[in-house]
Amino acid sequence: MSVDDLQVAIKAVIRASEIILETFGNPTGIEYKSRVDVVTATDKKCEEEIVHILRSETPDYGIVGEEGTNIPGEKVWIVDPLDGTTNFSHSYPFCGPSIGLCEGNTILVGALADPLSNELFFASKNQGSYMNDLYNEGEPTKLQVTKTSELHKSLFSSGFPHNKESQRFKNMIERFIRLEYESHSIRKTGSAALSLAYVAAGRIESYVASGQYSWDMAGGALLVEEAGGKITNFEGEPYTMETREWLVTNGVIHDKMVELLKL
Ligand code: IPD
Ligand code: CA
Ligand code: CA
Repeated sequence: MSVDDLQVAIKAVIRASEIILETFGNPTGIEYKSRVDVVTATDKKCEEEIVHILRSETPDYGIVGEEGTNIPGEKVWIVDPLDGTTNFSHSYPFCGPSIGLCEGNTILVGALADPLSNELFFASKNQGSYMNDLYNEGEPTKLQVTKTSELHKSLFSSGFPHNKESQRFKNMIERFIRLEYESHSIRKTGSAALSLAYVAAGRIESYVASGQYSWDMAGGALLVEEAGGKITNFEGEPYTMETREWLVTNGVIHDKMVELLKL
């Protein structure tokens, strides 16, 4: 990684955050990709601006964006211009942009933000994981996952696939019930990216997500790893950018969680 790549990611995340702040509370251009999968004009505008910044700063890199950008390259920016669109479309303040830089399945740089809470999160490989105010003007705080080892003292977040008829969705409902019984409690937050940041920041112990794509995870996964956490698929195997079922933990409870997720 180079520090410059991280600065580029942060610049793009800040620009998208500004657009989200300008339009929050007044979502326009709502379209349905499927029955409950929405996209707004803000998602598209954020992707446009992010791609503009990434192309001008790193013209040799590829870009994959949720809203359709697909430029090949050895190193590829993986972009979720607005993670938490369902929240955004209801003016529920928990959403933000997320960007990761990948070489194959290795994430080199990750940055994401919660503009409505004035929080920026970023990490680069082997350099640690940090949070700061949105404009990165204060002194960054180094992130560290919790050391909690007991499930009943652990707080979880969860993510579900959009297709409520899918077997994956039904399996996740069964797992959600189990997780609620065994944990302190489990949330369904509506943002994969911010859930990852929350594991890294030690606010929650685990994020259990089914049906996620690379753009949901690429920006935040490195945050967790650099903060000392662990990420695999539900079987406990290493993740790739094709993984759809993600288990993210503080590391300490990981093996217990793999057991718990077995159906
Ligand atoms: C969604 C969110 C949500 C997760 C969904 C994702 P989007 O991303 O991360 O928490 O459960 O699977 O698709 O559509 O808001 O970018
Ligand atoms: Ca997403
Ligand atoms: Ca999105």
